[in-house]
Amino acid sequence: MTQDEMKKAAGWAALKYVEKGSIVGVGTGSTVNHFIDALGSVKDDIKGAVSSSIASTEKLKALGIEVYDCNDVALLDIYVDGADEINPQREMIKGGGAALTREKIVAAIAKKFICIVDSSKAVDVLGKFPLPVEVIPMARSFVARELVKLGGDPVYREGVITDNGNVILDVHNMHISQAKDMEDKINGLPGVVTVGLFAHRGADVVITGTPEGARVEE
Ligand code: 5RP
Repeated sequence: MTQDEMKKAAGWAALKYVEKGSIVGVGTGSTVNHFIDALGSVKDDIKGAVSSSIASTEKLKALGIEVYDCNDVALLDIYVDGADEINPQREMIKGGGAALTREKIVAAIAKKFICIVDSSKAVDVLGKFPLPVEVIPMARSFVARELVKLGGDPVYREGVITDNGNVILDVHNMHISQAKDMEDKINGLPGVVTVGLFAHRGADVVITGTPEGARVEE
């Protein structure tokens, strides 16, 4: 099985958590794109979606799925999203697709976070994947210096502007053993919009696409 086939297996397996008549929280990325395709197959049974990015919104709308403004929805049953890394505590690094802030907002209004990944995303310790940090442009250099003090090597993701008009620093060489502390420290820096560590709000269900098919851990 290719990596994309494993992503597809995970994306389609998440469909069993979608309740009839519900509004579904939808993440961003290549694994989520498979989930959106799956959602398209039941579009007449759901009310719609709240989306975490312009890219996902466009794909949802192209399939005829109504997209609701996050401000108009108080609570979602589920939020389905991918991850760049996930550890055994179900803490994640996210933001490889630069959608981390909206992802964190939509995840925050969901009762259940369903993480869909292929098996390459499972790690013991977070940090091999460069940690994305969304930063207000004028704070880029200041935040980069502070991230060096925290032990990382920040690299400006050139040419990328987030859906919110900000920039991304990718922090290399972080060994994140205390993910919640690190999330708090980085989020506390002036100019940081959010860090792509999802430790306080980790995953509740993990669906992993493996060569043998989708493995569900509740
Ligand atoms: C986007 C994300 C994605 O969930 C993450 O990058 C995983 O992407 P993919 O499913 O394409 O591997 O956090 O900001």
